[in-house]
Amino acid sequence: MSTPFLETVESRRSLYQLTNTSPIPDARIKEIVSLSLKHAPSAFNVQSARAVILLREQHEKLWDIGLKVVQEEMPPAAQAFLTKRVVGFRGAYGTVLWFEDEDAIDILKQKNPAIQRLLPEWSSHSSGIHQFINWTAFSKEGLGCNLQHYNFSAKFVESVHELWNVPRNWKLKGQLVFGQPVGGPDRVKEYKPIEGDRMLVFA
Ligand SMILES: Cc1cc2nc3c(=O)[nH]c(=O)nc-3n(C[C@H](O)[C@H](O)[C@H](O)COP(=O)(O)O)c2cc1C
Repeated sequence: MSTPFLETVESRRSLYQLTNTSPIPDARIKEIVSLSLKHAPSAFNVQSARAVILLREQHEKLWDIGLKVVQEEMPPAAQAFLTKRVVGFRGAYGTVLWFEDEDAIDILKQKNPAIQRLLPEWSSHSSGIHQFINWTAFSKEGLGCNLQHYNFSAKFVESVHELWNVPRNWKLKGQLVFGQPVGGPDRVKEYKPIEGDRMLVFA
């Protein structure tokens, strides 16, 4: 039996065919990101997630850097495919950059020496939860999204800090690209069996 929440979870997909328009106003985009920041859980309620919203020309600037990274850092065999992909990201409406504040995590580490080594992992878990809320809420309101990780590139990360004056202690985790969708998902999603395979129940 589905609920409105689970129906929304079921309908979220990665969408790559996006236009540079939005079915919802910028104020609503901001509100959804704020809500994700406010209500997502974090270890010890550390609230280390940070977000930067880039819209229109600012978003295009980001993916101009993405294009340079592809040209300069990716193997020739992958360039044609990746360039097409990044041109697609650039043609969307915006990107939410998701970060984790390493200073906040360090303070938590000092307070909790016994679980120090787990905190980076928990920080990533919490970032994923924030990104999922953001992605799913955008989908519910008619925005198509895909999740990128160009933070593999030091040049990309450095450019983000320089161009938008992002504090150095904010560690870039992911980039949620969004816009008005003009097509469905690129592929039919295959599902591995759940019961007895991915889920065990003992009762
Ligand atoms: C942690 C994580 C990392 C991902 N990284 C990328 C990525 O770098 N580029 C990309 O296009 N999709 C990325 N994805 C999207 C997945 O490929 C996608 O969610 C998966 O294939 C299932 O498809 P769906 O989103 O349509 O349900 C990522 C998803 C997750 C959860």
